[in-house]
Amino acid sequence: MNIRALRWCGILLVVLPLLVSCDAAPDAPQTSAGVATAQKKTYQDLVVGFSQIGAESEWRTANTRSIQETAQRLGVELKFADAQQQQENQIKAIRSFIAQRVDVIGVSPVLETGWDTVFAEAKKAGIPLILVDRGASVPDDLFSAFIGSDFVQEGQRACAEMARLLNGQGNIIELEGTVGSTPQIDRRAGFEQCLKDYPGMHVTVRQSGDFIRARGKEVMKTILREYGRQFNALFAQNDDMALGAIEALEEEGLKPGVDIKIVSIDAERAAFEAMIAGKLNVTIECSPLLGPQFFETALKLANGEPIEKWVKSNESIFRQDNATLELPKRQY
Ligand code: AHR
Repeated sequence: MNIRALRWCGILLVVLPLLVSCDAAPDAPQTSAGVATAQKKTYQDLVVGFSQIGAESEWRTANTRSIQETAQRLGVELKFADAQQQQENQIKAIRSFIAQRVDVIGVSPVLETGWDTVFAEAKKAGIPLILVDRGASVPDDLFSAFIGSDFVQEGQRACAEMARLLNGQGNIIELEGTVGSTPQIDRRAGFEQCLKDYPGMHVTVRQSGDFIRARGKEVMKTILREYGRQFNALFAQNDDMALGAIEALEEEGLKPGVDIKIVSIDAERAAFEAMIAGKLNVTIECSPLLGPQFFETALKLANGEPIEKWVKSNESIFRQDNATLELPKRQY
């Protein structure tokens, strides 16, 4: 079962993690009766491999920082690999972590499919694997936990905010993230589900900007050239693409946030600045600050303790009217 299936079933599983066990404890302490007891690992004992997607957005940079700084603060030995957006690099990194016999593997999968074989290899090696930020379409027993957001809910929230801004009437451009990634698939699904409640609102053009600011600008320029001004709204699946599109709209003499209502996802600092300037209307929060939950879960797994199957992020919605107050509090 994948993350989406877990959501639909409404199941919050508490699982017994994959075992990392006593055979690794030749010098385990003995009780007075001479029976060996397993010694609990601490953060300083942990060796963790993490396969990151790359650096496509401010969000991703903040996520990398959260993982690296938390490892350093806790004293975890972190083996970090940047895949530069390539799934094959992530697969190589996971195989290298298995060969190095790390205690736990973390991975943020660039795409949703294509992981069965390598995840099964990690399972066979007895190394627990945690999905961080993005899900993977694999059987439930091939990963120990998922730590991250509910992307379907983010799409639903974006649509509800759009309906409020447009009074339920409008033609919407959707700028999507990396095609085949969980946030692209789920945010679109959530947005579409909610659109059913608003028959006056339609997504008339949908294109991918790969979650990258420069691509958001480029794609928006092409759309404006091809379709002219037939739109009154933009749903960008992340802030970076929205910020790129804002530049394109301004260069075409349009007023983003006024002529074209804009809702995006992530809630990074630059989005708050754009809201304060009146150019972005709403940002839906998606937290990249996953380092603390990731290492806490990794330590529990290494000690054979029960964990939650889905460690869900708690997130908000930010609008122009609370942007000034919120900006100083933002950590990314
Ligand atoms: O997977 C989370 C998404 O990936 C963020 O919304 C986006 O900014 C990032 O690149």
